[in-house]
Amino acid sequence: MDAHKFSLFFFNYALFLVLTLSFIYIEGCLASRFNLFEPGILMPSDEVEPGVDDDQLGTRWAVLVAGSMGYGNYRHQADVCHAYQLLRKGGIKEENIIVFMYDDIAKNDLNPRPGVIINHPHGEDVYAGVPKDYTGEHVTAKNLYAVLLGDKSAVKGGSGKVVNSKANDRIFLYYSDHGGPGVLGMPNLPFLYAMDFIEVLEKKHAAGGYKEMIIYVEACESGSIFEGIMPKDINIYVTTASNAQESSWGTYCPGMEASPPQEFITCLGDLYSVAWMEDSESHNLKKETLKQQYKTVKARTSNYNTYTAGSHVMEYGNASIKAEKVYLYQGFDPASLNFPPNNGHMSTPMDVVNQRDAELLFMWEMYKRSEDGSEKKRQILQQIAETLRHRRHLDSSVELIGTLLFGPKKSSSMLQSIRKPGVPLVDDWNCLKSMVRFFETHCGSLTQYGMKHMRAFANVCNSGVSQASMEEASIAACSGHDAGQWHPSNQGYSA
Ligand SMILES: *[C@@H]1O[C@H](CO)[C@@H](O)[C@H](O)[C@H]1NC(C)=O
Repeated sequence: MDAHKFSLFFFNYALFLVLTLSFIYIEGCLASRFNLFEPGILMPSDEVEPGVDDDQLGTRWAVLVAGSMGYGNYRHQADVCHAYQLLRKGGIKEENIIVFMYDDIAKNDLNPRPGVIINHPHGEDVYAGVPKDYTGEHVTAKNLYAVLLGDKSAVKGGSGKVVNSKANDRIFLYYSDHGGPGVLGMPNLPFLYAMDFIEVLEKKHAAGGYKEMIIYVEACESGSIFEGIMPKDINIYVTTASNAQESSWGTYCPGMEASPPQEFITCLGDLYSVAWMEDSESHNLKKETLKQQYKTVKARTSNYNTYTAGSHVMEYGNASIKAEKVYLYQGFDPASLNFPPNNGHMSTPMDVVNQRDAELLFMWEMYKRSEDGSEKKRQILQQIAETLRHRRHLDSSVELIGTLLFGPKKSSSMLQSIRKPGVPLVDDWNCLKSMVRFFETHCGSLTQYGMKHMRAFANVCNSGVSQASMEEASIAACSGHDAGQWHPSNQGYSA
């Protein structure tokens, strides 16, 4: 196309984006901030928590996972690095903390502070000292399972550090990433599938591998990982950023209240993640219970009941464990000894962006900041256009497949129907994987955006559609489509 048409074409995309993004912003919120606390007076009885003897505690283990890559996903790795620093301050030993992160942020060309990662607008570096246990191509679901199971021989690459835990030990698992119904992202495919993950936990329990475990998960639809399939009798307590059918939210993004320093073009954190970490950092964790943390995090992640810009923190597993003190998992920082019980209460809503639009926000910031008329600006717009085009292609292909399988009248209700609380996303998880593969073979990779369609594939399984019908519909919907960079031959299948 000629130059004039070309720029008009991109102008339209730019306009579209401005409109989209202005909807994404939630206005009128006050900035949250680090509260400065007055040191309280130490009462003698505060020094030791009655009934607790550190020697009998067993070992505390932690597994920290950032499941994404790319500078536009800065926030997930920032969350995980921050969690590492928090646990170290709490006295958890480096040898007992295993970190999964792609590690492409600190030294990224786009990082305005080379070698540094921050997780709060005024935050200090959280990257220094974080162990590179599993980075780059070694951040995989398989390695995560092997690490959790303490199965050193099954680990591929990386430091080889595994959760070599015993029956009296406690384990804290924290995951921050994109997700979709039934799946959590991984920078290297396939995704983590809920049922596989739960089976690993059951196996670890059956092997007597821990006393109790806490799992915190930040991702879109993260409740769906546990809904209806998380056992209550394997001594694990879980909280998730969102229920089984809603987004989770990025925060500390450019242009928001509590905005990152001017030079950052990406979000620094995620709402649920910064909520639990900033809560932990402002309390004496020998006094705070998991239940109190859950309540505080739930309130903050709901954005104080403005759920359009926040999500429902959920809990699963054995709720009795909630009565325990947080320090049994996250350690105890002596500097927090005198923190008052209601320390650092942040009751102001925060500006947020949903996980899936954070990518567009990032590209848009890059676009805005590149020089007018430059080749770079043109390339960024092209990238934005291609991303939006692939998103629309995914949306319309899923819709078309639904129409082919269920007819135009029932299609959307069949694809979108949400099962009752307590019922798993899908009855046959292998069926779900097969359906995803048929789709990706003919229509291209789901990508982190397309994860949102996992429920549609699950419902295809739940309604008893045969694999042959699904393949036929995928071929019909996507024949002749050139998936280009999103062909599964490039990065593999997500299932
Ligand atoms: C839940 O955890 C508590 C505390 O560890 C334990 O006493 C109880 O037996 C557990 N419940 C089940 C169903 O396993």
